[in-house]
Amino acid sequence: MSTSSHDRLLIIDFGSQVTQLIARRARELHVYCEIHPFQKVTEDFLRQFAPRAVILSGGPASVFDEGAPHPPEAVFSLGVPVLGICYGQQVMMQMLGGRVERGHGTAEFGRAFVTPSGAESALLEGWFAQGPEQVWMSHGDHVAELAPGFRVLATSPGAPFAIVEDPKRHFYAVQFHPEVHHTPNGRRLLENFMRLAGFTGDWTMGAYKEEAIRKIREQVGDRRVICGLSGGVDSSVAAVLIHEAIGDRLTCVFVDHGLLRQGEAEEVVSMFRDHYNIPLIHADESELFLGELEGVSDPETKRKTIGRLFIDVFQKYAGQIEGAEFLAQGTLYPDVIESVSFSGGPSVTIKSHHNVGGLPEKMGLKLVEPLRELFKDEVRALGRELGLPESFIGRHPFPGPGLAIRCPGEITREKLEILRRADAIFIDQIRRHGLYDEIWQAFVAILPVKTVGVMGDGRTYDYACALRAVTSVDGMTADYYPFSHEFLGETATRIINEVKGINRVTYDITSKPPGTIEWE
Ligand code: XMP
Repeated sequence: MSTSSHDRLLIIDFGSQVTQLIARRARELHVYCEIHPFQKVTEDFLRQFAPRAVILSGGPASVFDEGAPHPPEAVFSLGVPVLGICYGQQVMMQMLGGRVERGHGTAEFGRAFVTPSGAESALLEGWFAQGPEQVWMSHGDHVAELAPGFRVLATSPGAPFAIVEDPKRHFYAVQFHPEVHHTPNGRRLLENFMRLAGFTGDWTMGAYKEEAIRKIREQVGDRRVICGLSGGVDSSVAAVLIHEAIGDRLTCVFVDHGLLRQGEAEEVVSMFRDHYNIPLIHADESELFLGELEGVSDPETKRKTIGRLFIDVFQKYAGQIEGAEFLAQGTLYPDVIESVSFSGGPSVTIKSHHNVGGLPEKMGLKLVEPLRELFKDEVRALGRELGLPESFIGRHPFPGPGLAIRCPGEITREKLEILRRADAIFIDQIRRHGLYDEIWQAFVAILPVKTVGVMGDGRTYDYACALRAVTSVDGMTADYYPFSHEFLGETATRIINEVKGINRVTYDITSKPPGTIEWE
């Protein structure tokens, strides 16, 4: 549990796929919140957490299941406002003396419209001004009888109690999901709830920055910190923040594995060393990495080799920094949230991600993780607050194993060089056409096949490459970006004319799933 001094919203998670969205909406409204799984929320926990309000999330269970999940009774005697969403509404009604019915024939999934009952409520400010409101439903069971003290504010064809409230106790409940995009006015409803709960919107990045700096100073004292820089947004923001807090007692280690994009290493080094004056070790270990990767074509072996070498190299350089006791990591809140697991089984490994999780114990270092409470968009906001250039903050994500996983088959220096040049042209094209910010990630993969072409009067026999560009919100699912034919044609021509070694360009139009974003 964090020790934030802000007014806190507690979100009790019952396992809905969209619980994180509740937290994001709250954060957008400048309300500090934390998500905790229902199993962990005991009466003691509640007392310690001291929330200003509580939200009960949705979830896949039915209140009729044996051992159906529920919050502790104490949630309803804290004297703070409570909002139940979907399953949260049903469990709330059941615990407070209402009745839930199994959803025989009344299940509602997807879009529905709710209409007001006529009862006035501050919860509905800004709702129903243009008639019925579109909402997103996803429920089997439904509330059949309200608990004492409650009244109906709105109904839908499948949910007679779509929005209800107990105005005396400040308990509210909705059958739909106000946190999702498909409930267009949902944010307003949540905002009304936050206002009714008395939140003042004191969670701002300016305030967060000051607080984070104070906490880093408290934790680190006069000791030293090492931070591994990858060139990505998270580790960069963490480094600049820690530097503001403890100055030169931070040393950054930038491991260059020889699998970076064109100009990338120089960019990172010049920004951190020259612009921010942060002590930086540029560990150029490309020989070591490329040597060990020689002849390796299996994707998992590549990933594991890079992961292992990375840890060795990092350890070697970090060992040279005298007196370092802390390792800084750019861990984000989504990595910290404990998920509610109903199946209990481990999920299948699709790819072994570059992971340095075991490093701190191995090296006997304590962790400094100043971004642990933040979502990705908040890290970007913090980066702006710290004055990092916009061009850097808005960068597409880049995977830890770098170009190795964009070079299916064997990696050679020749292929990497060709890939770098083609990739730089593709990104340049995207920027020239003003598309960079619309795209989640774009890159070139060099294919392990040579094809025949004709240039001028001569025959060519060169590599084929694939352009990849996707839209996504979190990298978990993705769609290919719908470039115009003109854009694709122009880009292919430029790559073939300007990059010796490529004579064929293709565009990858696979979504995720069934594909993945990277090729390996
Ligand atoms: P996939 O290919 O799994 O990628 O659809 C999803 C997102 O994750 C990035 N990615 C990685 N990031 N270490 C990272 O830090 C890795 O090992 C790694 N593998 C993939 C990928 O670039 C995309 O944004």
